Amino acid sequence: MVTPDLSVRLGSLRLRNPVLTASGTFGYGLEFLPFLSLEEIGGIVVKGLSPKPRKGNPPERIVETPSGMLNAIGLQNVGVDAFLAEKLPELRRHDTAVVANVFGETIPEYVEVCAKLDAAEGIAAIELNVSCPNVEAGGMAFGADAASLARVTRACRDATRLPLWVKLSPNVTDIRETARAAEAEGADAVSLVNTYVGMVVDVERRRPVLANGCGGLSGPAIRPLAVWATWQVSRAVAIPVVGMGGIASGRDAVEFLLAGASAVQVGTASFVHPDASVRIAREIGSWLAGHGLASVREIVGTLRTGKEERR
Ligand SMILES: Cc1cc2nc3c(=O)[nH]c(=O)nc-3n(C[C@H](O)[C@H](O)[C@H](O)COP(=O)(O)O)c2cc1C
Repeated sequence: MVTPDLSVRLGSLRLRNPVLTASGTFGYGLEFLPFLSLEEIGGIVVKGLSPKPRKGNPPERIVETPSGMLNAIGLQNVGVDAFLAEKLPELRRHDTAVVANVFGETIPEYVEVCAKLDAAEGIAAIELNVSCPNVEAGGMAFGADAASLARVTRACRDATRLPLWVKLSPNVTDIRETARAAEAEGADAVSLVNTYVGMVVDVERRRPVLANGCGGLSGPAIRPLAVWATWQVSRAVAIPVVGMGGIASGRDAVEFLLAGASAVQVGTASFVHPDASVRIAREIGSWLAGHGLASVREIVGTLRTGKEERR
């Protein structure tokens, strides 16, 4: 049997396979070295980076839910300077694409982090987390409306020549609108979905379990929602789509690829099995081989819907 070609292209960026690890679920990559070889996945997306280090929210910050988890980590991170000085040199020794996830509370903060990453060696792409509250706009998330998403995307586009991915929030009425805004302002790709806002209540204490009140839902519970969002967005924009949300197996990943994603990210599954991303990449290869397909690129966006079949 011929080994299928798993390599994919996202604009100018080539990945050896379509599986990356999702931001916030894989630390800075280095923590996972005892469990897997970074050379076996397409790339890693590091924990969201801000201009200054952040401690995040007080506990409780995580709670399990049916088929998923709710988190309110509060964007804890070492800050972009420590990442560049302490983490990136070590990461650069591994042959994998390093995508830097970026957030800020204001547009100048996003720009500052992007400019620093732009000046560094060894970053494959920048992914903007636009689910962060915009302090200058009363705390509404940047990604909650197309106009503010457009402004932050344009500002970051002007600050870097690196491939720029905008990671869309699913907590919107129509995710195609924010996807189109990202594309119009120069994004090279969109990634989706970030977590869905939710709440778990401790009925005895009559309080939310998370100290923050609400949190972001991830894991298999959101997969059908995320596949739907991927399908909608992939038909609304011409730039590549990176899909994620509850991927725990090769078959799950294939759902996203068929729905139009050129690559996928694995998040919560790495908490269950730290090497889940490697297994998922292998399982995509087995699925393709089992279907007599030579390349993963052959299946991207080839979902057949009932409507098309009736035509
Ligand atoms: C504990 C935790 C921390 C996260 N931190 C970030 C982050 O810093 N930046 C970001 O863009 N997404 C973050 N996410 C969202 C994930 O990258 C991903 O979009 C989401 O979890 C859906 O994928 P999954 O169901 O495979 O986990 C985080 C998710 C979890 C569970």
